Amino acid sequence: MTAPTTPTARAVAEVRRAVAGARREGKTVALVPTMGALHAGHLRLVEEARASGGFVVASIFVNPAQFGPGEDLGRYPRTLDADLALCARGGADLAFVPDVAEVYPGGAIATFVEVPGLSDVLEGASRPGHFRGVATVVLKLLNIVGPDLAFFGAKDYQQQLVIRRMVADLDLPVTIRTVATVREPDGLALSSRNRYLDADHRRAARILSDALKAAVAAVEGGEDDADRVRLLLRRSIESEPLARLDYAEVADADTLEPAVTLGPGRRRAVALLAARVGPARLIDNAPLPG
Ligand code: PAJ
Repeated sequence: MTAPTTPTARAVAEVRRAVAGARREGKTVALVPTMGALHAGHLRLVEEARASGGFVVASIFVNPAQFGPGEDLGRYPRTLDADLALCARGGADLAFVPDVAEVYPGGAIATFVEVPGLSDVLEGASRPGHFRGVATVVLKLLNIVGPDLAFFGAKDYQQQLVIRRMVADLDLPVTIRTVATVREPDGLALSSRNRYLDADHRRAARILSDALKAAVAAVEGGEDDADRVRLLLRRSIESEPLARLDYAEVADADTLEPAVTLGPGRRRAVALLAARVGPARLIDNAPLPG
């Protein structure tokens, strides 16, 4: 028996028709933007969208505009059949699966959204132009679908901050929901890029969540100096020979400015990591106790 799959729309006009139909029935609309290669983290987003009670659209689009030269656009995993089965499991009503020409007619668009500041640090510093590509495609998806709610993962902490800022600055009529990171039993955050890991690299990859756990424990234990927590994160990653640190930061949870002092009475802080483990560049983060 084949698994049920979610119906797909390939064209903008088709999605708009389906959403208009749902609106006529008095339904609210929820959007879950993804790049496919779906896993239990994406599933959680779809389930949360389903729980919101409306018509759920999941988009599946590997967005060339958010990949830099030399990044993994060409080898990004594409698993559409499995993705549509997972969308059905989560209760999505429609999967929007455009091809590149549908989103970027003629191969390019001239208009981009930029969220300077938030986009320039951490992931943005390592991946120039990345958040411009993300913000632009998310704005396009919001304009195509016109949802009341859109769901993003805390796994991409900086991404959801960039999106929230864009939505606020441009008065977009949508509410952004951020869903907690779904993890493997050993702590590794689920990611489409985990598929790049062989057995040794997979074992090594847990160092990111281990380092974050150690940082959280240190702050719980009274550590209030952000620099010492940065050092702890850095040393943890450096203890794993198969991992190469990109950044280890302790930042203000809203502005991503470097934190100085942590703990009760201070502004909310988050620890953020990026590291290369063999063929995969992985990111993870954890809120620090306040
Ligand atoms: P993608 O990496 O496919 O992720 C889609 C959504 O799933 C994002 O909001 C991401 O934060 C969330 N997600 C990924 N792993 C998760 C996990 N382990 N737990 C919870 N949520 C998780 O992020 C993108 O695609 C793209 O940048 C996109 C927003 C679709 C724009 O192209």
